[in-house]
Amino acid sequence: MDEFDDLDLLEDVEDLEAQVEAGDHEGYPATTVLVDEHKVIKRAIDILVNAVKSGVQDEKLYLDLARFFSEYADAIHHGKEEKILFKRLKEIAPEHIHDMIEDLENDHVEGRRLVAKIKESISDPEALKNYALAYASMLRNHISKEDDGLFIAMHPYLSKEKEEEMLREFLEVDPPSKRELEMIVERLERRF
Ligand SMILES: [Fe+2]
Ligand SMILES: [Fe+2]
Repeated sequence: MDEFDDLDLLEDVEDLEAQVEAGDHEGYPATTVLVDEHKVIKRAIDILVNAVKSGVQDEKLYLDLARFFSEYADAIHHGKEEKILFKRLKEIAPEHIHDMIEDLENDHVEGRRLVAKIKESISDPEALKNYALAYASMLRNHISKEDDGLFIAMHPYLSKEKEEEMLREFLEVDPPSKRELEMIVERLERRF
């Protein structure tokens, strides 16, 4: 990474820290990124649930949502949790945190299975509805377990410096497509 990239990254970190000061996780900038991603994921879940419950038949809509759940919820968001946050916590946190992480990792595996089923069922409305509702219920519960469970329980083991280090790692792994995927949710919200 050259000097200019470093400067860009520093500006990104400062911008994110400024947002954190206005939010609920003051002093925990990496946690705030994950909580903000949860908010986008919950909006996508709402679109999916409303569409299947109202019997919307629109293959493009479900393909766009499946893409969002694979690339954003799973690859970008769960990727950060597994490869950066959980990995770090496993090195420093006590046993009860490890147990919480094991449960959350199992949810990630189940989420991957259900998104694959959603993709396979796009032309079968009844199966699609069942898998979509199962996925929505699992993922909403999973997000609560993190927002109200792990993210609070882990704070004593992550100093401000460690949170800032993780924030830098998050920014390094985020692909340029992150914003484009968030735009899919904004676009679909206007239509559904
Ligand atoms: Fe997670
Ligand atoms: Fe999460």
